[in-house]
Amino acid sequence: MEQQHFKILIADESHQGFARIICDEMESSAMARGTGIAKRSPDYIQQKMREGKAVIAFTEDGIWAGFCYIETWSHEEYVANSGLIVSPPFRKSGLAKMIKRKIFELSRSTYPESKIFGLTTGLAVMKINSEIGYEPVTYSELTQDDAFWAGCKSCVNYEILMSKDRKNCMCTAMLYDPKDHYEPEETTQDFKKHSKLYERFMRVKQWKLLAPFLKHHSEDSGAHLSKAGHGGGRTRSIFHMFFHL
Ligand SMILES: CC(C)(COP(=O)(O)OP(=O)(O)OC[C@H]1O[C@@H](n2cnc3c(N)ncnc32)[C@H](O)[C@@H]1OP(=O)(O)O)[C@@H](O)C(=O)NCCC(=O)NCCS
Repeated sequence: MEQQHFKILIADESHQGFARIICDEMESSAMARGTGIAKRSPDYIQQKMREGKAVIAFTEDGIWAGFCYIETWSHEEYVANSGLIVSPPFRKSGLAKMIKRKIFELSRSTYPESKIFGLTTGLAVMKINSEIGYEPVTYSELTQDDAFWAGCKSCVNYEILMSKDRKNCMCTAMLYDPKDHYEPEETTQDFKKHSKLYERFMRVKQWKLLAPFLKHHSEDSGAHLSKAGHGGGRTRSIFHMFFHL
């Protein structure tokens, strides 16, 4: 199959007409995956485009293919790269990786002092972030700005987040600290080494967090989960550090 080429641009006001399709795709993708999402309006996406705080991708024929935007928190101490979306026909061809690299460069050049972070429920995004130099962290290392967490109100998992005092939820947090970070080669290696474990932990975590919210949760399944989630040695320490259960 012929390799698809994309144009990856910093968005501007000329792209505002794509805001609706971007929002619709974000929502339908989250529904298809059965995961939560902080909903964004077309107005909000357009504002990001006007401010030059977003990256948009097109095919060579001008078909919209992907998007991601920047938010700043805690007086620019933190930058979040959020709302990553690739249009379904163009997935699995490396586009998300290109968009994430571009938004990371834009974040670094615009806010060189800021810590850059993201929240994700997906292993693909964890892999991409690791290749850039992000590492998994607990929620306590993210911005504590109430306005950021208020953005989660529209997510179906918000009740879980609040029940955990904002210390944990379905998403995994990843962070790049310009003053204290590993090299991308190191975080890439670390991801390779632990990816199977991360995948398993994400599943266990989703079960564990959801359990109290399930109507017919039995004592039995709870016992099974805590056994699966609290293995010994190295597994246990990664589990606690990354997923803070
Ligand atoms: C997640 C998403 C952005 C990935 O986009 P994409 O363009 O297909 O990703 P890429 O092709 O750049 O893939 C990056 C890596 O992740 C892997 N990957 C992609 N989708 C994957 C999936 N569903 N499961 C596991 N790995 C996946 C790729 O194989 C690739 O690995 P490689 O470097 O070893 O080849 C896209 O599927 C999407 O828009 N999903 C819906 C919205 C979403 O989940 N956004 C993320 C919110 S945090």
